[in-house]
Amino acid sequence: MRFIARILNKIAILFVTGIMILGYGMMIEPNLLRINSMETGTLTKGKFRVVQFSDTHLDNNYTIKDLEKLVRIINLQEPDIIVFTGDLIDSVDDSRYPEHALETLGRLDARLGKVAVFGNHDYGSQGYRYYREMMEAAGFEVLANEAVRYDAGGGMIVNVAGLDDALLGTPDHKKVSGLLTRKYFDILVMHEPDEIGHFEQDSYELALAGHSHGGQIRLPFIGEISTPPLAKEYVRGMYEMGDGRKLYVSSGIGTTTIPVRLMNIPEIAVIDVKI
Ligand SMILES: [Fe+2]
Repeated sequence: MRFIARILNKIAILFVTGIMILGYGMMIEPNLLRINSMETGTLTKGKFRVVQFSDTHLDNNYTIKDLEKLVRIINLQEPDIIVFTGDLIDSVDDSRYPEHALETLGRLDARLGKVAVFGNHDYGSQGYRYYREMMEAAGFEVLANEAVRYDAGGGMIVNVAGLDDALLGTPDHKKVSGLLTRKYFDILVMHEPDEIGHFEQDSYELALAGHSHGGQIRLPFIGEISTPPLAKEYVRGMYEMGDGRKLYVSSGIGTTTIPVRLMNIPEIAVIDVKI
C-alpha cells in the first residue's frame, strides 16, 4: 500500500510540475521580451543601428495591444533601419485580417527607413491579398526579390535586398544575388534562414532571417524539439558564414500551432553596424 501511495505521490508531483511549466509557457514567457544588443563590423567610417523583429503571428494570443507595446519598445531603441522578417499574422480568413495593425505599424519610427519581407504565413490564408498593401501603407518597403538603398551619411550607403518567401512565394535567388552590390554595405533579408545556402558564393555583410521561432519550445540540454522546414540548419542567434559574412536568425515574437514558448523568450535584435 505504501509503495502505491509513493508512486501516486510522485505522479501527482510530476503532474503539478507539468501544469506549472505549461502555465508559465502559455501565460508568462510569451509576454516577456528580450532585447538582444550586438555589434558587427570593424571599420570606423561610422555607425548605424538596425532593429529586427520577426514572426509576430498576430492572433488571439498576440494582439494589437501587444504589438503597440512592441512598437513603443522598438522606437525607444532609436533605429536607423527597421527590418521585419515576416509572418505578421498567424492565419486569417477574409473577415479577420488585422488591417487595423496598419496604424500601429505606421508608428514605427526609423531614421532611414523600414523594410519587410513576406513570411509563409503572410501568403497563406489569403494573407497575400493584404500584406504588401498594408505594410506599404504603414511605411515599409516590401522587398520580394527587390532591393532598396539608404544613404546613412558620412559616405555610408546601405543596400538592403530581400528574398521572397521560399515556401509559398516565388524566391528568385539569382535576381537577389544580382541585387547585392559588393560595393556598399549589403544586408540580405529573408524569412527562412536555410535559404542562406543559396548565397554561398555571394558577398553580403549581414543577413537577417526569422521563421524558426528558435524552435518555440526549448528543453534544457536538448535545445529545440523541432523547427519548421527551411529552419533546420540555422535556428537562432548569430552565425559566422565565412569571409566576414554574418547571419542573424531571430527567435521571433509570437507563437504558432500551440500558444506556448518555453526557454525561448520573444526577442528583438538591436544590431549596431560599424562600417
Ligand atoms: Fe513564423
